[in-house]
Amino acid sequence: MGSTPSVAVVIVAAGSGSRLGHVRPKAFVPIEGRSILSWSIDSVRGMSEPCELVVVVPSDLVAEARATLEPLGVAAQVVAGGATRQLSVAAGLEALGEGVDVVLIHDAARAFTPPEVFDRVVAAVRETGGGVIPGLPVTDTVVAIEADGRVDGPVDRSRLSAVQTPQGFPMSVLREAHATAAADATDDTSVVRAAGHPVAIVPGDARSFKITTADDLVRAEDHIRRTTMAADVPALRTGIGVDVHAYDPAAPLWLAGLFWPDEPGLAGHSDGDAVAHAICDALLGAAGLGDIGSRFGTDDPALDGAHGDVFLTRTRALLAEAGYGVVNVSVQLIAATPRFAPRKAEADAALTALLGAPVSVSATTSDGLGFTGRAEGVQAIATALLTFQA
Ligand code: CTP
Ligand code: MG
Repeated sequence: MGSTPSVAVVIVAAGSGSRLGHVRPKAFVPIEGRSILSWSIDSVRGMSEPCELVVVVPSDLVAEARATLEPLGVAAQVVAGGATRQLSVAAGLEALGEGVDVVLIHDAARAFTPPEVFDRVVAAVRETGGGVIPGLPVTDTVVAIEADGRVDGPVDRSRLSAVQTPQGFPMSVLREAHATAAADATDDTSVVRAAGHPVAIVPGDARSFKITTADDLVRAEDHIRRTTMAADVPALRTGIGVDVHAYDPAAPLWLAGLFWPDEPGLAGHSDGDAVAHAICDALLGAAGLGDIGSRFGTDDPALDGAHGDVFLTRTRALLAEAGYGVVNVSVQLIAATPRFAPRKAEADAALTALLGAPVSVSATTSDGLGFTGRAEGVQAIATALLTFQA
């Protein structure tokens, strides 16, 4: 026998969902491509300790439920439920093996209960040795109604709690309480209290709302869209970089990572590759990591005469270290010479290989205007898109 008490979760999903009014039993109604039952399993998968899982479904849907659970990679028993929730809970308890110390009963209809609520209930059952229910304060004003329909003033809200699931119990307590329970108690708490055991309350969670009516389905869809958007779409960041170099006819020309024989070169501490430098600035700027001047000082002898590949490779490493991935880079060169188009594909390929992400370079002249028009120098403007994964 291990010393860690083991936990079991029974998910009751055998109801018909009469108030939902869907053609299928409630737990099998799809929301955004997955059944309510399937969504509810995510909470159990997120628990901080492993547990034995039993899923209780309508008797004619046992095979379908097994097929639903299989791709989720959870080991679960699927059993047939009964005509009432209490009978379905009893069927789930019966399926549990020996050695379970704490059992949680959860409604599949509360499909988005955060795993923390399950952990909280388990911890409180262990601490108190009694039953534990999650609940939320009641925010509406609640009034009592007399038998003749007259309103009998407000009920003290501070004494009220709206109860959710999972409800947790020491296994022996729930088994015994069910064995002696009246035929139809609405929930397990009443069963346990009727058998004379204490029940404590821990904070529930608004996300644990129960899908009961068609309106709740809309709420569920909204909930999924909001949470999956936040989780799946990485943060995107854009950056811009501009670089200018004057021509130096005595220097060899290096541009867009390529050597251009027989073309006037560019002046600069490095090789004057304005395209490569503009890309570095766009990338560093998007990541908030400064710029090429502050990152790669002119006093670094390793960068004296360095070609674009050195700056791009170093920039890529800085981004990766900080958790950024490059989505793409677009650059435009504004220059009277060289004629860029014949080597565009070669430049794109070289830069794409250096960054491990698509780089596209285009070129234009400035119609005789400005320093580029007068062929005093070249200018490059780059934009970069990055993803950030924390
Ligand atoms: N449940 C069950 N077996 C039953 C009745 C209910 O397992 N015979 C389960 C439901 O599947 C649900 C949970 O108990 O996950 C809470 O019940 P409720 O929300 O009332 O669901 P339904 O009974 O299916 O809905 P309705 O009352 O509208 O028919
Ligand atoms: Mg019901």
